[in-house]
Amino acid sequence: MDNRPIGFFDSGLGGLTVIPNLLENLPNERVIYFGDTARTPYGSKAVSTIKQYATQIADFLVSKDVKMLVIACNTISSTCLEDLRVRFPQIPILGIISPAARKVAAICTPENNIGIIATKVTTASGAYRERIRDFNPELRVFDKATPAFVPLIEEGIIENEIMDLTIHYYMDDFIRENSIDTLVLGCTHYPLIRKNIEKIYPGLNIINPSYEIIGRVRQILENDGTLAGEDNDRENIFYASDLSENFENMIQKILETEKSNLNLKFKNLEL
Ligand code: DGL
Repeated sequence: MDNRPIGFFDSGLGGLTVIPNLLENLPNERVIYFGDTARTPYGSKAVSTIKQYATQIADFLVSKDVKMLVIACNTISSTCLEDLRVRFPQIPILGIISPAARKVAAICTPENNIGIIATKVTTASGAYRERIRDFNPELRVFDKATPAFVPLIEEGIIENEIMDLTIHYYMDDFIRENSIDTLVLGCTHYPLIRKNIEKIYPGLNIINPSYEIIGRVRQILENDGTLAGEDNDRENIFYASDLSENFENMIQKILETEKSNLNLKFKNLEL
């Protein structure tokens, strides 16, 4: 048994979309979350910059004595996972792409046309294609960078005509030309626009990797004997590098709770 928290991080608020799944499935576990809201989005930045930022965040979370690190960001997972594992060999570090790829391979056949929507960096890394083909080389995978989604979501522009137009702009041709029937939300911000996508393309089978990563967290904790106990009286803590009103509104919405129930803290990593 191990009551220490699990560190989760993302470029911003997207990684928060995995937290409700954790709290529902592993209610004894506690979270230290870091959202780099001052420097988001990462998805169009140079890989060297993303590595520098991700290392700073991981250093900070490890200094808080986390028992595991979960990279709740596809962009960081696709570029920094191995470096972070080398830097912190003492704790398990989990990326979001392999668990999602495993799920895709489990439910799809070569008859399916699998679409991955993600940031520019995740798409350019080819990580989804590679991981999915590791599981089944015969699967047909198409990817599409959709970089304007993250800034709009961080601004809370979601249930809105501008978001719907942006989805049409990026995805109409991609879905039609490739006859996509299965769509992976390859960025942890995208579950926040899942309803928009479902409304516009009603027949799609949508895969949300947030569910898969929590399944993998459970497996690792069970295997290592490090599940938290029922006596765990620690708090969940949410850090942001820019604690704006917008972030506060969005976190309350995503976690479906009031600000008074949330332990929100500011942390500037550049100091
Ligand atoms: N949530 C991040 C991801 O999963 C967003 C990346 C960004 O900041 O552009 O890729």
